[in-house]
Amino acid sequence: MTSSLPATITLAGISKSFPGVKALSGVSLTLHPGEVTALVGENGAGKSTLVKVLTGIYQPDEGEIALEGRPTTFPSAHAALKAGITAIHQETVLFDELSVAENIFIGHQPRGPFGLIDWPKMHALSRDLLEKAGATIDPRTRLRDLAIASRHLVAIARALSVDARVVIMDEPTAALSHKEIGELYELVDRLKVAGKAILFISHKFDEIFRIADRYTVFRDGRMVGEGLIRETDEDRLVRLMVGREIGQVFPKKTVGIGAPVLTVSGYCHPTEFDQIGFELRRGEILGFYGLVGAGRSEFMQALFGITRPSKGAIRIDGEVAVIRTPNEAVAKGIVYVPEERGRQGAVIGMPIFQNVTLPSLERTSRHGFIRMAEEFRLAREYTSRLDLRAAALDQDVGTLSGGNQQKVVIAKWLATRPKVIILDEPTKGIDIGSKAAVHEFMSELAGEGLAVIMVSSEIPEIMGMSDRVIVMREGRIAAEYPREGLTAEKLVRAAAGIGGQA
Ligand SMILES: Nc1ncnc2c1ncn2[C@@H]1O[C@H](COP(=O)(O)OP(=O)(O)OP(=O)(O)O)[C@@H](O)[C@H]1O
Ligand SMILES: [Mg+2]
Repeated sequence: MTSSLPATITLAGISKSFPGVKALSGVSLTLHPGEVTALVGENGAGKSTLVKVLTGIYQPDEGEIALEGRPTTFPSAHAALKAGITAIHQETVLFDELSVAENIFIGHQPRGPFGLIDWPKMHALSRDLLEKAGATIDPRTRLRDLAIASRHLVAIARALSVDARVVIMDEPTAALSHKEIGELYELVDRLKVAGKAILFISHKFDEIFRIADRYTVFRDGRMVGEGLIRETDEDRLVRLMVGREIGQVFPKKTVGIGAPVLTVSGYCHPTEFDQIGFELRRGEILGFYGLVGAGRSEFMQALFGITRPSKGAIRIDGEVAVIRTPNEAVAKGIVYVPEERGRQGAVIGMPIFQNVTLPSLERTSRHGFIRMAEEFRLAREYTSRLDLRAAALDQDVGTLSGGNQQKVVIAKWLATRPKVIILDEPTKGIDIGSKAAVHEFMSELAGEGLAVIMVSSEIPEIMGMSDRVIVMREGRIAAEYPREGLTAEKLVRAAAGIGGQA
């Protein structure tokens, strides 16, 4: 399928610096019509920066761009869009207060005779595009009423709304469920057939090998390799990416499981979950598997005091506890690292070290004074154990790459030394090398007696790290399995509600 057609777009010698970091150093990239090029690299390698150069959001310091052989520049995002370059960005830029249709057509609404927005047409077109993206969403819904996966589908529909030559997807499946991911793959296949050049950024190797024709590897802002997917394999790509061998992928340690720390009984919610009950012990990693929408995150949010259960009780270290707010949860030793770390996690505009130490102020202050040296020490310890890649810890957290921002949020909650930590999709968007670091740290902390609840939709992660797994389906506990004898098939069947022998 490697065409001899001329390239759709070629970038050569592109460099881009930010204060203190050279995000891109003379990189090149070629995208071909009807082909998917996977862009891979560790967190902070420069992938999203390149996307922003391609879409006119950033101006490169040097380098050339040629569109179908003709030299060009994208002085603005609008210019790139007009040239037929569309992107689904890693941090989706959507507007909460606008409707789904308005978000899809922002900047290029269909207009009627007097230049007025043609609403019926816009809604009809939106319905079409959403259907193509595999979503059943009413275009009139206000965006803020949608769950994260649906918001992502809206972003995909928007990318389809312009007549694109180049479609860029920056980790498009990170927020999608299993079924939606399948639909996205079909969509990519259709875009290929339609002759679009596609740039696909992902940390998931199975999907790279499933849908990409070519690969380009970035390491520390440089292009270190490219070629045809069918002429390479996973090991070779990983070596190019990280420049070294990586150790064990799921470094789970066997630790002694201690006394119960958290007992949940009969937790109910009018619409989201029903009769959730279990016991969690010191040193235990309890996996929560399920399809998106199974109610896992909703239950965790209730446990953390973001929402209130309608019924149910919990005990912490055997004592009945009532948690009405996240502050009460933290005070009682329960912390929650949300899935959507962008909106619920890092405080943009604040330096990394303060982000980490924010909820641990009693550990870093004395007589009411914050000790900066202590703050730095704590921040350094936790961020280095999570393999954070940052120029300096006093850097604004907003300047970090997507994956590195997530590590800051995990570090921040671990630094409070909780009894129970709830990690919602802990390694989503985190590169393969850092993933092992996150897992290793998790395992070490469990060894020190921390009890971990890990919500994950990735079967290898659930199987690799959990001592025990609870599967949720439609708001209820569908099954529970010990580590021994656990299989992917059992998990999938329980999550989908397929009966029979597994
Ligand atoms: N606006 C900015 N200001 C300062 N530094 C930035 C800015 N944007 C990106 N960087 C830095 O540029 C480098 C590349 O970041 P980029 O977001 O391109 O990485 P990435 O490959 O997309 O990583 P990830 O897999 O985590 O999404 C990082 O060191 C990042 O901190
Ligand atoms: Mg990125």
